[in-house]
Amino acid sequence: METRRVHIITMGCQMNVYDSEQMERILAPMDYRPTSNPDKADLILVNTCSVREKAEHKVYSCLGRLERVKRKRPGLIIGVGGCVAQQEGERILKVAPCVDMVFGTFAYRRLPDLLREVAEKKRRVVDIDMAGTVEPLDTRPSEFQEGRATAFVTIMSGCENYCSYCVVPYVRGREISRKPEGILKEVEDLVERGVREVTLLGQNVNSYGMKDGHGLDFVSLLEAVNDVHGLHRVRFTTSHPKDLSDRLIRAFGRLEKLAPHIHLPVQCGADRILRRMNRGYTRDYYLSRVDALREIRSDVAITSDIIIGFPGEEGADFEETLSLVKSVRFDNLFTFKYSDRPYTPARKFRNKVDEKVKGERFARLLELQTKITLEKYRSLVGTVQEVLVESPSKRRGGQMAGRTPCNKIVNVADMTAPVGQVVPVSIVQAFSHSLLGSPERCGSQDRCPKGGILHAA
Ligand code: 5AD
Ligand code: SF4
Repeated sequence: METRRVHIITMGCQMNVYDSEQMERILAPMDYRPTSNPDKADLILVNTCSVREKAEHKVYSCLGRLERVKRKRPGLIIGVGGCVAQQEGERILKVAPCVDMVFGTFAYRRLPDLLREVAEKKRRVVDIDMAGTVEPLDTRPSEFQEGRATAFVTIMSGCENYCSYCVVPYVRGREISRKPEGILKEVEDLVERGVREVTLLGQNVNSYGMKDGHGLDFVSLLEAVNDVHGLHRVRFTTSHPKDLSDRLIRAFGRLEKLAPHIHLPVQCGADRILRRMNRGYTRDYYLSRVDALREIRSDVAITSDIIIGFPGEEGADFEETLSLVKSVRFDNLFTFKYSDRPYTPARKFRNKVDEKVKGERFARLLELQTKITLEKYRSLVGTVQEVLVESPSKRRGGQMAGRTPCNKIVNVADMTAPVGQVVPVSIVQAFSHSLLGSPERCGSQDRCPKGGILHAA
């Protein structure tokens, strides 16, 4: 069979990155090889995100561009998958005539059949059925994924928290955990292919295994991954503050491969709004979780998400968010302006915040966090950090790029260490989103005894 080319455009979160990799693997036996050049592709798949309105708009402008590509190459097959596909289904076919195939968040596993239907029966197809397995069809890393130091591994799908602003429970379905054996096999296979760091993915990893009776909770799964020979680091995301257990917090103190970084979305600093968001915790509870984490590991990096301008947010609520950010001093923060999403209760809430006010609050929060992030980065200048080399550097002056255990990007000058190597790096300069370092000689130690900082310079 003649080799065909598939170009996948991935939008949104790490889960979509994982799903896109799955699509590559599923298509490989049909002789589709990935290409980064859309002009060379026989098949273009857009893996979409619908978490915010802006993300959804991005999908339609992308389809507008693909419309022009298809006009030039009528044989090209275009598929739209992921969360917007799940949400919109058939409607996508109506608004985007170039699209041949719409497949939802579970349907990518049925891609070969869908493709055959499009190619042989010359029919446009929609599959947004949310039935079926959450196990990947083929967990083996594909040949295209060789030479990587890090990888994502999805351990569960769906979400049942129903935060009042969030579309995810409606487009990703109920919470289902993968079987631990499959996850561990996948991690072992990745390590065999040279991966040294895995990030376990789920909307709320804390509830891993709770309903599915696999006999293992999240901390036990972490312990098992920690024992995988040849793996150097494990991370996870995302953890819901209301379910962040003491057991998981203690794991940061005892599992040597668990990297000292946690993404713990707070969303807002005001109790009144947290209640309306249906978050299930208070500001004080969140702060107590942060204290508990830092007590176990003083160097743990904490990052978060905040939504600005949730319906009914007043100036005083926003001031509480600012004061929480000042008090926690996050290592990094992802700030989003609230937008209405389909199906969610919040879209019907009154007292929507004016876009201009949202913009002003957004700018103030950004200014505060930029200062904190820079201070955090600057405090690392003069230390030696354990860096896992991930790729050639994109920055001028850097040759290789990698991350510290706390997940900070370091560009390293004058170093040609291969991808996957762990090297001690002396930090010489801090920028707003990255560090610059130079290689440090540190004997033959493979692991930093102090959890990241090999020794202060
Ligand atoms: N509007 C703005 N931001 C949102 N998020 C989720 N839903 C919305 C929405 N309707 C943000 C939250 C979440 C992140 C992935 O996206 O902060 O943690
Ligand atoms: Fe976007 Fe959420 Fe879907 Fe991920 S799960 S692709 S963030 S909507």
